[in-house]
Amino acid sequence: MSRKSEVVSENSPVDQQPSIREPEHILVAVAWPYASGPRHLGHVAGSVMPADIFARYHRMAGNHVLMVSGSDMHGTPITVAADKLGMSARELAEHNHLGIAASFERLGLSYDLYTTTLTPTHYQVTQEFFTRLLERGFLFQDTQPAMYDPEAQRFLPDRYVEGTCPHCGFPDARGDQCDNCGRTLDPTDLIDPRSKLSGAAPETRETTHFFLDLPKFQDRLQTWVNETGDRWRPAVRGFVQGWLNEGLRARAITRDLDWGVPIPLPGFDDKRIYVWFDAVIGYLSASMEWAERQGDPDDWERWWTLTDDGSAPGRSYYFVGKDNTPFHAIIWPAMLMGYGGLALPFDVPANEFLTLDGQKLSSSRTYTARLPFLPEAIDLFDADAIRFFLTINAPESRDTDFSWDEFQRRNNDELVATYGNAVHRLLSFTQSRFGGIVPTPGPLSEADKAMLDRVRATFETVSAQIDAVHLRDGMLATMTLASALNRYLDETAPWKQLKTDPERAATALWVALQVVGALRVLTAPYLPFSAQQLHLYLGDEGDVHTLPWSRREVPAGRTLPPPQPLFRKLDDDELTGLVARLGAETVETGEPH
Ligand code: MF3
Ligand code: ZN
Repeated sequence: MSRKSEVVSENSPVDQQPSIREPEHILVAVAWPYASGPRHLGHVAGSVMPADIFARYHRMAGNHVLMVSGSDMHGTPITVAADKLGMSARELAEHNHLGIAASFERLGLSYDLYTTTLTPTHYQVTQEFFTRLLERGFLFQDTQPAMYDPEAQRFLPDRYVEGTCPHCGFPDARGDQCDNCGRTLDPTDLIDPRSKLSGAAPETRETTHFFLDLPKFQDRLQTWVNETGDRWRPAVRGFVQGWLNEGLRARAITRDLDWGVPIPLPGFDDKRIYVWFDAVIGYLSASMEWAERQGDPDDWERWWTLTDDGSAPGRSYYFVGKDNTPFHAIIWPAMLMGYGGLALPFDVPANEFLTLDGQKLSSSRTYTARLPFLPEAIDLFDADAIRFFLTINAPESRDTDFSWDEFQRRNNDELVATYGNAVHRLLSFTQSRFGGIVPTPGPLSEADKAMLDRVRATFETVSAQIDAVHLRDGMLATMTLASALNRYLDETAPWKQLKTDPERAATALWVALQVVGALRVLTAPYLPFSAQQLHLYLGDEGDVHTLPWSRREVPAGRTLPPPQPLFRKLDDDELTGLVARLGAETVETGEPH
């Protein structure tokens, strides 16, 4: 690490060197959002936000991070939405993809590649995967009954069949779910079913599909879960074990559709590979696309290819919502086992749901009062305020409720009052009483040393928490350091001591500025925008995220630029107006679950 010549106290007792160890390869695989419409805060809290914190931390900790994802462009939600709008599925998906990518960027998500499942690389890799599994005997053909529209002369996806709900009598239930009572359905459950395309009563006909022979992987999956499951969240492990206990069943991986990756065999022109089969392959194809774009097409192998002794080349983490658990912790691992030579997931830290008034925030539901979608949320609030709340209220081990009162309270009482105000008070004090120059400390008192020790301990705690994907606890530990700084300032009161003991005041300010220097690093994975701003207020240049994961000194003698507050308070009127406005609108974006 090259250090700037400005750093004066090379031998400062509090100077911390980053620990020296071999960098690891960390794959941060983030669930691919459907391009059926804008994403809401539930998706952000469930997968993308945690993934970004984790990736930013590991980059600062010196590891080789590859963070990939993209928009999930196939599937009937998109064809249904496109039909409604009179667009092609491709047009709609591409349009929505651009919107999702733009809003993710505004939220500060640091993907190495955010692509789509429509790229030539993805199609090719998906077809190769299919072919290899077929050759190795892990796919077979079989027939199953399906709904057929005799007028439109085509098979109907579940969502294209409507009828009366057998549970609640709702007349417009869909073949996959009743929007009135929320129950999941099979199209054959519906009373008086009709085709969404023609209105005709659908017939049941046999259709031929390819099936993934999951039972063939039962034993290997069980062995793998026994070995790795301990580090998994109990809910994830329990879920996977539950499926294994029931005994795995083969699953159809093709559909009667014209939107999806074509089956690489003659005679299947009117069928496509099922959206879930191609989407999970996206992690691999996006890694390959990233490598191609880097001009080093084999570079993806550093995260994926098993070493000669069969061990993984690093660690791979799949950040998903809990409804995606089976696909990432059972089906994708089975596909990888069948394919061979590639690393299995190291962890699938699936999150629970973010709920609104206790209901799952599904974008297929129509709410009378709802949350803003991501683009709206970022128009209304700073990205870091959203990131802070979704982290501190993260659904890591249970569903958590989103409430506007909580959002306001935690923003105002914690982000603004505990952290932002302490920082602003110190930086302003440095301007007003020290001409903006970081003072030179005198001898350190016990309290000073204790404060600086806390910084060191906080780095260790936050590292351990983030590495264990306890991101909320990592943020809490950082906020605890901010609280400790407030107490330190109350006790040392440099503003008062300035008159009686200027050297003590200068020392306390110097110590406090070192804590702020640390907080800028500690918050960087979580609150990238304010951390960067603070980095500049501390007189540093460049991107805060290129700093190593350790306390960065704020050297005595440096002149700091005049600061602005990092965060803003949310007042009652603003939120009342917002909730009233959102409550007046209803939205339906369509999305399968
Ligand atoms: N599009 C799916 C969803 O939003 C997630 C797909 S994750 C993937 O539920 F890995 F399969 F892409
Ligand atoms: Zn119903």
